[in-house]
Amino acid sequence: MDNLAQFIRQLPKAELHLHIEGTFEPGLMFEIAERNKIKLEYPSVESLREAYHFTQLQDFLNLYYAGTRVLIEEQDFYDLTWNYLIKAKENNIVHAEIMFDPQAHTSRGVPFEKVIKGINRALSDGAEKLRITSRLIMSFLRHLSEKEAFTVLDQSLPYREMITAVGLDSSEQGNPPGKFERVFAKAREYGYLTVAHAGEEGPPENIWGALYLLHVSRIDHGNSAMLDGVLIETLAEIQMPLTICPLSNLRLKVVDDLSHHPLKAMLHKGLKVTVNSDDPAYFGGYLNDNLIAVAQALSLTEKEILQLIRNSFEASFLTGELRRKYTGLL
Ligand code: ADE
Ligand code: ZN
Repeated sequence: MDNLAQFIRQLPKAELHLHIEGTFEPGLMFEIAERNKIKLEYPSVESLREAYHFTQLQDFLNLYYAGTRVLIEEQDFYDLTWNYLIKAKENNIVHAEIMFDPQAHTSRGVPFEKVIKGINRALSDGAEKLRITSRLIMSFLRHLSEKEAFTVLDQSLPYREMITAVGLDSSEQGNPPGKFERVFAKAREYGYLTVAHAGEEGPPENIWGALYLLHVSRIDHGNSAMLDGVLIETLAEIQMPLTICPLSNLRLKVVDDLSHHPLKAMLHKGLKVTVNSDDPAYFGGYLNDNLIAVAQALSLTEKEILQLIRNSFEASFLTGELRRKYTGLL
């Protein structure tokens, strides 16, 4: 099994489902809180980490949004992103498509400009110093209104060149894709690609909605597709990528045990599945940990692991020479 872990660690990888706010390690959170003179609700790094027990998505989201409260200055967003890029390098990630939640910050009075400039500066340094290429995905918080999503879409326009796609995250239940159909249509007019979380806690209907109302290029999660035979066939036929997050699914009780995770069955049904870390600071592991844990739990072969890694590069927003270069590495 050590051989399998070694095999996974040395492979060059892409990560396609990663919330930058979900990479906020408690140590860095305390450091930034101190310099911004913000008091956290927990007395220590250890006590904060101990609070990371979730019974569902909303438990996690409450802590995740609370953690963002300390991010105020451009440098904070730089440090957050740089911290992830160091981890990405350790995980042999050569390309990362990173989501950020501007509304988690603008709703607290932090200007959009500070958020995106800090993140973007770190990504530029990542390309130069760590040789990690990246794309940025701006996610709308689906528990907020359509009007608020339109506002953030407008705020993004001066930074259009820094953002490749828009996404949809936060509480899935009660907030179906149709709520954002018009926002996504406008985003596509502006030239953004689209992705959306669907079928994490929600039903297969949300995946259908993401496909046909939001016209997504990828489905984030998509676990509940396995409940709908016609949907499975459709996703396989159009080779719609699914960004699966095994440790997230375990920690948020989307699956009760990793040995029951649908990843292998999805692969065998011909679905274009990829493995990702979602919110690694909260869910107990970065990309290699996710791959190793799920490979062990489902007895994945080296061939299946290679397929997952290849899928990630193919499902990325990369084009041309860079895409060929990365797929040629495998
Ligand atoms: N925001 C950050 N992580 C998320 C997840 N797993 N589902 C929905 N929204 C999120
Ligand atoms: Zn996610």
